[in-house]
Amino acid sequence: MNPSTPTPANPPSASAATQPAPTRVRAVTRRSYGGVDQVRVEHVDRRDPGPGEVLVAVRAAGLDRGALHLLTGTPYAARAAFGLRRPRQPVLGLELAGEVVALGPGVTGPAIGDRVFGTAPGAFAEYAVARADQLAPTPAGVDDVQAATLSISGGTALEAVQRYARVEAGQRVLVLGASGGVGSFAVQVAAHLGAEVTAVCSAAKADLVRDLGARHVADYRTTPVADLDGPFDAIIDIAGNRPVRELRRALTPTGALVIVGGEGGGRWLGGLHRNLAVSALDPFSRQHLSWFVTRQSGELSARLGALVETGAIRPVLDRVVGLDGVADALEAMERGTLRGKVAVRP
Ligand SMILES: NC(=O)c1ccc[n+]([C@@H]2O[C@H](COP(=O)([O-])OP(=O)(O)OC[C@H]3O[C@@H](n4cnc5c(N)ncnc54)[C@H](OP(=O)(O)O)[C@@H]3O)[C@@H](O)[C@H]2O)c1
Repeated sequence: MNPSTPTPANPPSASAATQPAPTRVRAVTRRSYGGVDQVRVEHVDRRDPGPGEVLVAVRAAGLDRGALHLLTGTPYAARAAFGLRRPRQPVLGLELAGEVVALGPGVTGPAIGDRVFGTAPGAFAEYAVARADQLAPTPAGVDDVQAATLSISGGTALEAVQRYARVEAGQRVLVLGASGGVGSFAVQVAAHLGAEVTAVCSAAKADLVRDLGARHVADYRTTPVADLDGPFDAIIDIAGNRPVRELRRALTPTGALVIVGGEGGGRWLGGLHRNLAVSALDPFSRQHLSWFVTRQSGELSARLGALVETGAIRPVLDRVVGLDGVADALEAMERGTLRGKVAVRP
């Protein structure tokens, strides 16, 4: 792979709000489901914002695992949402930071010229349309590259650790998949709340997760969960697709298991059987067993922005690429060589 040349985090740029947005914009697309060879950079028609939407001049976008799922159309069950035969949204990318340049009817929150960040389908483009309620003001002390990498991975980590696991100071928390997009935030949020974090990732990234606040680090290739120094008050299960019974054995009798995700669980359901298992078992258990799909919102992004601004958490940035570098970054994500997040500057 040829890593794209890093670009400065916040190069000076004139306000886009003073110039009319072009009708055709550069974007990273894939027209069919498949591998990285489907990815193109092309000009696409820009659409105007509809009711409750705003047009954002994208300063940076974040790459998350969802982009790979949207590229490959797996698990197949997700095609009900992505588009059955081909992707409904040809432009990749789900999270962004930028400047509001036009408002759709009925928008009362963001104003033209505001710096914002949050989620929007088709974020890997020069301009993207976002729902106003999916955006938050970018804090003054947070640059666009940082802000662009927060909403999906950081939002998922915050929901898992705070809302579902209800982690408190002094608790022992296990994070499986600690060095990735979600895990790098989950370790930090749990440590910030005062928990003693055990992080599981590959040995090559042990230094990274220790730096993020993990007290103990283990390599999933050599250390089974049963050999970790449990029991844990909470397990945040982001990777590995381990059997639910194995994870429950590592929990305290009233501990919380939160299933966030995991790759390789089958092309049709992608490990969904574990989600069904925890839903079925939870009513009969003293342990709190749950799974969730993050409900993105401007409010969730705002909470993340505040945590970054105060220094409680920080995005871990593997690299910054241009639109032409997205395919290589997706390949690196597939190979598992990324350390944290990739930001894309159109
Ligand atoms: N529920 C939701 O709403 C939601 C939202 C976002 C993402 N997700 C899902 O969450 C999962 C993780 O996303 P991500 O963005 O964090 O992915 P990612 O950046 O690719 O990170 C994956 C992590 O898993 C680790 N890992 C790989 N195999 C493992 C194993 N057997 N045991 C423990 N750790 C292992 C990797 O470690 P090394 O790199 O060190 O090998 C890395 O830390 C994906 O399945 C994604 O679809 C769910």
